[in-house]
Amino acid sequence: MRHLITIEDLTTEVWDELFASFTDIISHPGDYADACRGKVMASLFYEPSTRTAFSFQTAMMRLGGSVFGFSDPTATSASKGEAMSDTIRMCSAYADAIVMRHPREGAAKAASLFSEVPLINAGDGAHMHPTQTLTDLATIRRLRGTTEGLNIGLCGDLKNGRTVHSLIMALSRWPGNRFYLISPRELALPDYMLAFMKQRNQWYIEVTGLDSTIPQLDVLYMTRIQRERFTDERAYNRNRGIYILSEKMLARSKPDLIVMHPLPRVDEIARDVDSDPKAAYFEQARFGMFIRMALLLRQTALPRLAPDYPKPNPKKPLCKNPACITQTERYLPPLTHKNGAKLCCSYCDAALRP
Ligand code: NCD
Repeated sequence: MRHLITIEDLTTEVWDELFASFTDIISHPGDYADACRGKVMASLFYEPSTRTAFSFQTAMMRLGGSVFGFSDPTATSASKGEAMSDTIRMCSAYADAIVMRHPREGAAKAASLFSEVPLINAGDGAHMHPTQTLTDLATIRRLRGTTEGLNIGLCGDLKNGRTVHSLIMALSRWPGNRFYLISPRELALPDYMLAFMKQRNQWYIEVTGLDSTIPQLDVLYMTRIQRERFTDERAYNRNRGIYILSEKMLARSKPDLIVMHPLPRVDEIARDVDSDPKAAYFEQARFGMFIRMALLLRQTALPRLAPDYPKPNPKKPLCKNPACITQTERYLPPLTHKNGAKLCCSYCDAALRP
């Protein structure tokens, strides 16, 4: 694995290697204090973040490495009109790995075409968030002992919640997992995710009720209604506060249920749940730092490699998804692949002809 753009880039072998490293780092953190001495990580956040940015930064610090970057793109040359490809090409000359978050779907894939060093997607719009998935997988495996044969409830904004998309993709590779997709109809999973599950013969059910589903679950993954992704404020107002997990609702859950959340929480988990032993979300956030240590340790050791820089695209973008990176970075070459029978954009995964 050179770049981590979607969780599909992670083979099961690399996952096992990262989880073993994660476990060892937790047991012997002192052994890793100089493991990345002299290495430099670029932290390019074109979109706000607390946990993801801080956990990457502290992960690198705990490995003895250093970090540069920005958390506000208006303070960079992007505001002077610099193309993203130039920013990436330049930062990849300075760093040993690039961690990037961007509001546009497919931005990480686009950036990877211009990077000499491993690029890590820290979230690209509503699309994917593979390192949150590493965090989630590590949490499930550590607290439940397995990532197989689990009933997993995913609740909230499944349309815009990128962490859910990456997590489903990852958990689909192990046998016996069943997904209970709990959302209002207008916030259901995007079509490309449903196509992905159908192609894998993955068991899932779409439901609207949280209370009635809880008793069946081994893992409940709550998510925030993603206000910033709504183009229509009324649609947001219709859906805000639609699911609120309370301590009372957990009374009928299995005794070993774990409640997860990528955070930040708005109001979808009542505060009285925080002291319940089933609440795993703050521990999950801490595990996120350790799994990112394991990832950085691996990726910064890979050799620098100049990519085959793509030729600029002379035409209009092929992809019609208004949130796709090809809409704003117009020089990107059109890249496509098949998802089942549908031809899709290889940056954002949207079908080219719906
Ligand atoms: C998530 C994200 O950024 O997508 N948070 C995170 O990475 N910790 C979830 C969210 O913002 O709701």
